[in-house]
Amino acid sequence: MKILGIETSCDETAAAVVADGAKILSNVVATQIDLHKAYGGVVPEIAARSHIEVITPVVEQALAEAFPDSPDKWDEINAIAVTYGPGLSGSLLIGTLTARTLAYVKDKPLYGVNHVTAHAMANMLLDPQPQFPMLSLIVSGGHSQIVLFNDRSDYELLGQTQDDAVGEAFDKVAKIIGLPYPGGPSIQKAAESGDPTKYDFPKANMPNPYDFSFSGLKTAVLRRVQEICGKDYTFPSFKLAGLLSAQQVNDLAASFQRVAIETLVDNVEKAYNEYSPASVVIGGGVAANSELRRQLQERLPLEIRYIPMNLCTDNAAMIATLGYYQAQGREADDAMVLQIAPNLKM
Ligand code: KG4
Ligand code: ZN
Repeated sequence: MKILGIETSCDETAAAVVADGAKILSNVVATQIDLHKAYGGVVPEIAARSHIEVITPVVEQALAEAFPDSPDKWDEINAIAVTYGPGLSGSLLIGTLTARTLAYVKDKPLYGVNHVTAHAMANMLLDPQPQFPMLSLIVSGGHSQIVLFNDRSDYELLGQTQDDAVGEAFDKVAKIIGLPYPGGPSIQKAAESGDPTKYDFPKANMPNPYDFSFSGLKTAVLRRVQEICGKDYTFPSFKLAGLLSAQQVNDLAASFQRVAIETLVDNVEKAYNEYSPASVVIGGGVAANSELRRQLQERLPLEIRYIPMNLCTDNAAMIATLGYYQAQGREADDAMVLQIAPNLKM
């Protein structure tokens, strides 16, 4: 069964074809990072406008790459899966309306899927597939959660962030210390030349041991930067970065990254000890972080297999994969009806 996946929940326009939820035939991502860089973050209106411009060529490219020799590429597609939430409303609308229209015109079953669940299910693209129970850490610009999958469709949310997502904290801290958007990769790079023990930042203590909180950490970095620069809260924070030396920036990046990643790994370790899962997987943009991969493997006694970086950040192969599993277990959605759900929960 070959599924066309479509993803437009944030700032990547993506389409992919996956066979039987396991084999990627094509995986096309048009990123808008350069469009948003100047603003230091994603601008929703710009994101939606850019999705409109590229969604059709991106879908066509995904079909062309998957079936280079087929005269009618649509004949090869058995169903369409699309992200209907969570995400930015304008962005989600472009993907869902495209998928609904294609499903109607090409007469294909349509499956609306949850973007966050798809980040975890991207791990089904590993060969061999991870075993259940599967403990997953899903960490992105919008989400930080620990989920225990008993099988592909039965899962339990163990904990989640109570304020900022960890990727959001990377992005905000990068802005404070003057590193370019997106903050995750630029903090990781700066941290390579920094001392991770130079500054001590606090870890939040949560009533539920699997929950996270990252807004205090972000504020602690801001206070520390003000202190280093000899300024108080009345000084405009966007001017602080200009007062830091390159070494201070690198040390702040490394120290923040160490604490943020330790916070994630602490909770995964607690959940591992409590639930003894057969596998541990990670997903979402922050799963591309090499320090997270290193610390997890160092602290957990089982071998962890990681999906490639391009399946961690937003992509449509994970949407097609989850769409395949949904197609096994439920009726298709109505192409005339499927609505976006910007605040969709797992
Ligand atoms: O999953 P994703 O592509 O989009 C969302 O669904 O949010 O995740 C994007 C987030 C951004 O916050 C970005 O800074 C972060 O993932 N990120 C990283 C790294 N690469 C991307 N964070 C830490 N280290 C990285 N190497
Ligand atoms: Zn995502």
